[in-house]
Amino acid sequence: MCAESELELGEAIKVIVDGVAVALVKDSAGNCFALGDMCSHADISLSEGFVEGDDLECWAHGGRFELSTGRARTLPASEPVPVYPLTIVDGDVYVDVTTLVDVAAYVA
Ligand code: FES
Repeated sequence: MCAESELELGEAIKVIVDGVAVALVKDSAGNCFALGDMCSHADISLSEGFVEGDDLECWAHGGRFELSTGRARTLPASEPVPVYPLTIVDGDVYVDVTTLVDVAAYVA
């Protein structure tokens, strides 16, 4: 996919994995996430947005998505975006778009 070193703290980049647009995100703590790149509110690339704490914020209307679960935290976004399993092996980032992260583990 890419080298982890290509991901800057607090930044998102767009990559295509098996034809699926993915926003690769590294939060300010250095944790990495792979979310579907399409905002659930409209046809906008989330990787062009902003990493704000534990969220990825869409630049178009300010909808925010939790990085670990993809759930929409603020309107006008109300539907979640997918979160894909991400692994880092020897400094390289791998994303599996054939399955989704079990977000139940993150929901209290
Ligand atoms: S297009 Fe993302 S919040 Fe509207």
